[in-house]
Amino acid sequence: MEQKLKDLKEEFQKDFAKIANQQDLEVMEVKYLGRKSLLAQLFSQIPALEQKERSVWGHRLNYFKEEVSSLLREKRQSYSTVEEAWDLTFPGNFYDTGSTHVISSVNEKICSIFENLGFMVIEGDEVEDEWHNFEALNIPLEHPSRDAFDTFYLDIPSKNKGKYLLRSHTSPSQIRVMQKIKPPLAVISPGRVYRPDEVDATHSFMFHQIEGFVIDKEISFSALKGVLLYFAQEFFSQDAKLRFRPHFFPFTEPSAEADVSCIICQTQERNKRNKPNKRKCSVCKGKGWLEILGCGMIHPKVLEACGIDFKKYRGFAFGMGVDRIAMLKYGINDIRLFYENDIRFLEQFKV
Ligand code: PHE
Repeated sequence: MEQKLKDLKEEFQKDFAKIANQQDLEVMEVKYLGRKSLLAQLFSQIPALEQKERSVWGHRLNYFKEEVSSLLREKRQSYSTVEEAWDLTFPGNFYDTGSTHVISSVNEKICSIFENLGFMVIEGDEVEDEWHNFEALNIPLEHPSRDAFDTFYLDIPSKNKGKYLLRSHTSPSQIRVMQKIKPPLAVISPGRVYRPDEVDATHSFMFHQIEGFVIDKEISFSALKGVLLYFAQEFFSQDAKLRFRPHFFPFTEPSAEADVSCIICQTQERNKRNKPNKRKCSVCKGKGWLEILGCGMIHPKVLEACGIDFKKYRGFAFGMGVDRIAMLKYGINDIRLFYENDIRFLEQFKV
């Protein structure tokens, strides 16, 4: 028995080393683990042994059997992975790669429209000082419009007058750029802004804006209208219309808010064709217009604060909310959806 097991072990080692393919492996499995294998024959001799010997041999043979089957199992696994790798009909592995967030893709789309018009993209700072966020933009300390913009202050004194704060709009980028680069200028400046607003379906303490401005010797309000109409038609639809309503901003004069014709219900188009909408549109509330931005001619005091001769140069500026524009474009009714990281919502905008 001793000798037979020893021979069997040696033979197995030699055979095992010679396995070259899956067929060899199958032969080995039958030879060493099959019902008629040498090992099975040894097992069958156990009952003939003496009482004491039986359990010893039972253990030894079982131990060897385990060893053989685990070695053959490993070999089989290595074959199956090699074959899988080369099986061209095998379904591929699926990896979820993630994608650009809808706010980022809308942001990129808007910037690229302006880049095509020759605008340069310059990002400003999210942490600003009071002077850039307010004073330089003609919003002095006691100005009532400062209330609406009042924001998160950092308890650090800034190099300029006042404190550091989280910027409440992207307009301070105008100042930063004008201080560094001489006109003529055509700049677009995207980024996050912060306001102490109560969070609800249309407000968030943080949202995204895109600032745009152009400064040159002969810049007029009609140039502003032309640029914004081009943007609206490229971004929303070729038959989008714009409407300007007089408004007030301390840093522009004159100032306006611009509305785009509702892209969802197309009320403006339908009224023209005498085919008014029967149902009230939930996006524009039946008005047919959607407010998208604030704009105007840059106030001479702003140019002056940046050391630009306001008698020689003029400019226009506009600021739009990216979140709002994304909501209008896709008919999304709650700004919070952008920030909750719910994959089911976000993956609808996979590009
Ligand atoms: N900064 C203004 C806001 O946040 C928008 C604006 C920018 C208006 C530039 C006019 C010119 O509401």
